[in-house]
Amino acid sequence: MPQTLGLIGSGMIGGAIARIAVAAGLDVVLSNSRGPGTLADLVAELGPHARAATPAEAARADLVVAAVPLKAYETLSTAELAGRTVIDAMVHHPQRDGDIAAIDSGELTSSSLVQRHLAGSRVVKTFATIDFHHLVTLARPAGAADRSALPVAGDHAGAKADVVALLDVLGYDAVDIGGLADSGRLRPGSPAYVQPYMGERPEGLSPEEAQRWFFASPGVPVPAARVKELVESGSAAV
Ligand SMILES: NC(=O)c1ccc[n+]([C@@H]2O[C@H](COP(=O)([O-])OP(=O)(O)OC[C@H]3O[C@@H](n4cnc5c(N)ncnc54)[C@H](OP(=O)(O)O)[C@@H]3O)[C@@H](O)[C@H]2O)c1
Repeated sequence: MPQTLGLIGSGMIGGAIARIAVAAGLDVVLSNSRGPGTLADLVAELGPHARAATPAEAARADLVVAAVPLKAYETLSTAELAGRTVIDAMVHHPQRDGDIAAIDSGELTSSSLVQRHLAGSRVVKTFATIDFHHLVTLARPAGAADRSALPVAGDHAGAKADVVALLDVLGYDAVDIGGLADSGRLRPGSPAYVQPYMGERPEGLSPEEAQRWFFASPGVPVPAARVKELVESGSAAV
C-alpha cells in the first residue's frame, strides 16, 4: 500500500481525494500553481498527515494524482513525473479548457493525450466520473454492502493494479474498463459519468436550492456490477 499520495492540483477534486486519503491513514503532499502558502487552510483542515509543497515535491510521492484543469496538462512536468504512476482525474470540459484538436477529432481520449505528453510515466485514469462531494460521502470500508466502485483505465497493468489497490484503501471498489483509449466511455454525458453517484435532483430548484441539495445529499452507492453496466452501455467513441 502506498504511504504517500501527491496531489498536483488541490482544488475541489484534489482536495476531496486528499481528504479520503488522510482518513485512510495516508500522508498527502498537496500542491497547486500559486505555491504552498496558498494551501495553508486546507493543510490545517486535513491535519498532521497533510503538507503543502511544490508540484515537483508532490511528484515524488508513492503515487501522484493530476487534478488540474485539462487545459493545464502540458504544465505537468515530464521530467519530474518520469517513471511515476500518474493518476489522471482530469476531464475535458470545452467551456473551461477550450477546444483540443486531438480530442475533438476523435483521435485521442483526454487521458491518451495526457499519456502522450507524459510519455515516460504510467497514466491511469480514475476519479474522473464522480463529483468531489460524493467522492467523500460515498467512501466505505472494504466489504461494506453499500460500497461504490469507480472505473479505472490504463495501458500499464502494474500501474493499474497499484491504483486499484489505492482505491480499495480509500474506500472504493474498481472496475477495470481497459486501456486509456477506452476511457472515452467515461466522458461527460456518458451513462457512467457523475449522475449515477449524485442521484436525481428534484425538479424546479433555484441555483441556490440546487447547491444546498447537492451538499446535503449523501449520494447514491453505485456497486461494481452497476458501474460495469453503465460503462458498457456508453458509446465507445472518443
Ligand atoms: N470538481 C469535481 O467534482 C471534479 C470531479 C472529477 C474530476 N474533475 C476534474 O479534475 C480537474 C480539476 O478540477 P477541480 O474541480 O478540482 O478544479 P479546481 O477546483 O479549479 O482546482 C484546480 C486545481 O489545480 C491547480 N492548478 C491549476 N493549474 C495548475 C498548474 N499548472 N500546476 C499545478 N496546479 C495547477 C489549482 O491551483 P491554483 O488555484 O493555485 O491555480 C487548483 O488547486 C479538472 O480536470 C476536472 O474536470 C473535477
